[in-house]
Parts: sequence; structure tokens; C-alpha cells
Amino acid sequence: MKKVTTRTFAANDAGFTASAAVLAAGGLIAFPTETVYGLGVDARNTEAVARLYDAKGRPSFNPLIVHVASLAQAEAFVEFDEVSKGLAQAFWPGALTLVLPLRADSGISRLVTAGLDSLAIRVPDHAVARGLMGAFAGPIAAPSANPSGQISPTKFAHVADQMTGRIDGIIDGGDCGVGLESTIVATQPVPTLLRAGGIPTEAIEAALGSPLVRAGETGAPSSPGQLASHYAPNGTVRLNAENAEQGETLLGFGAVDAAVNLSPSGDLVEAAARLFDALHQLNALGAQRIAVSPIPERGLGRAINDRLRRAAAPR
Ligand code: TXA
Ligand code: MG
Repeated sequence: MKKVTTRTFAANDAGFTASAAVLAAGGLIAFPTETVYGLGVDARNTEAVARLYDAKGRPSFNPLIVHVASLAQAEAFVEFDEVSKGLAQAFWPGALTLVLPLRADSGISRLVTAGLDSLAIRVPDHAVARGLMGAFAGPIAAPSANPSGQISPTKFAHVADQMTGRIDGIIDGGDCGVGLESTIVATQPVPTLLRAGGIPTEAIEAALGSPLVRAGETGAPSSPGQLASHYAPNGTVRLNAENAEQGETLLGFGAVDAAVNLSPSGDLVEAAARLFDALHQLNALGAQRIAVSPIPERGLGRAINDRLRRAAAPR
């Protein structure tokens, strides 16, 4: 990979204009969304998308999410059915990604979809993401702005530490509020949960009026990029630990004495917002063996546990 100079852009109109010009020239710009920082490129520029895969060290079979400013803009790239339109209207802008049939005339690079005939698309709910999309006015393909397999970034410093020298710029837009990636749903052939995320499964099922099928169940589509080992901190991870054993560092949840605590009051929304920063902190502490308190499997707890299971998976 060629080493590049990484500029910092301010989260204001001048910064949006300058970073949009970098995107238009085929460059790579990291920017905050409400979920995590994304690493954006022009989704129509195959060479730029290839550079993005290279900068992340990402296996090229793993397709990307395209970010647009509105449902109306999304309609230029994918075909909506009644169910997906209902979900878009209910949750956009917001942390829901829909996987929908790609339009033949979309102009989206085949590298973005890794050759699939579906496209993952969402409308982010974040002033800086909106500012960049407004200035660029085209589809932005953006995975999380971390090297493949490592911890997702929720702060400017996480991106600067991990991606400086690999990307053209970072918009310094503060911390991400939700802290977990978007929930991914496909609506064909049946509404299916491909990835738990920032919008609780229960909220989507309430809007649908029926339960979501889980990816991999009979008849359900699957998401190619859901690798077993992901979000890995430097230390090993042991889940559902009531206590830290000798030599372990506790990542706590609730009223426990822990080196790092996701939420002393046991609030799942707060824990989601802190999760990735907590894993970065454990790296900074040099934690070799990490024990994690039990986290309830409801609401955002499902997505937190999904990320922690991948962090704990054999590498
Ligand atoms: O919140 C988020 O979703 C963040 C921010 C930046 O928007 N992005 C993000 O992207 O998490 P990434 O690349 O880390 O995860 C994208 C996921 C992968 O698991 C990929 O396999 C899945 O989306 N995906 C993308 N296109 C797909 C498709 N056509 N069908 C099924 N899954 C798809
Ligand atoms: Mg990611």
C-alpha cells in the first residue's frame, strides 16, 4: 500500500467542501456517522473503491454499505418494495441498513457489491455525515474506518491512530452517539436480520408487525461479510464472567468493580455508546486477558453481545 498524507478537515462548510472535493477526485475520507466513523469513497469510482479495500486490508468478497442523503436519493440505486419502503420511512435517517435489489442503471461500482445483485444502503442521521453528503451530492460507499478485523472507531482519535498514512483525510466531528454499527435487514424473500446493530431488533419487529427471520435460517439470505473473528482487541476475551480471575482485566457492566465499565448503572444504550472505546482503552492498558461481565440479551444488548462474541472468537 502506498503511504499517503492524511489531512484533518473541520466539521464545517469549508471542511465539507474540501473533503467532498477529495472524494470527487477518487480519495478516501473518514467521517463520523451516528453509529461509527465510516471510511468513505465515491461508490461509482471502481479505482477509489479498490484503494479503500487496500487501505482497510479488507477481503474483497465483503461488500460495502452505500450512504445517501434521503429515501428519494436511494431510489436511484435500489428497488424498494412495500415492506422496505415502510422500514425506510420509519427509521431513516438512522441506524438501519436495508439490503435491496440493485437497479440495473445504478452506476454503483461492482466492487461495492462484491458482484452481488443486491446493495446495502442507508441514510445516516448525523450532521457531519449530512454535511459531507450535501457537499458531495453522490453515493458514498463507507465501511467502518478501521483496519479489517480490528475494533470499530467511535472517536476521531481512534481513526487517526489506526488509519493515518493510509487515507487522504478525516473529518474531525467528535464522538459517535450510538456507538454500534447499523442494524442490517433484507426484506426479500422474507424480512431477515443480517446483523444486529444500533436499532434494536424489537423496534424493527414492532414496525413490521412480525418477527424477523435470522440470517442463515431456511430460506433466509445471509450476509457475506459476517466474519467470526472481528472487533478483536489485543488481549484474549472471556465472556459472561461474574468476576475477573488472577491476571484478567474486567470489562464490567453494572455495579461491579472493573478496570473499564460499560455502564455502572446497567444502561444498555450507554454501554453500546462506550463499547468500542472501552476495547480501545483495554488495548491502551495493555490488557492481555479480558473478562467481560454478562450483558442481557435484549434491546441493544443483542448487538453488544454479537460484537463481543466476535471479539472473543478464535483468531
Ligand atoms: O453503521 C454502519 O453500518 C457503518 C457506518 C459507517 O455506516 N458501516 C459499517 O460497514 O458497519 P461495514 O463495512 O463495517 O459493514 C457492512 C456489512 C458487512 O457485514 C457486509 O457483509 C454487509 O454489510 N453487506 C454489505 N452489502 C451487502 C449485501 N449486498 N448483502 C448482504 N450484506 C451486505
Ligand atoms: Mg466494520
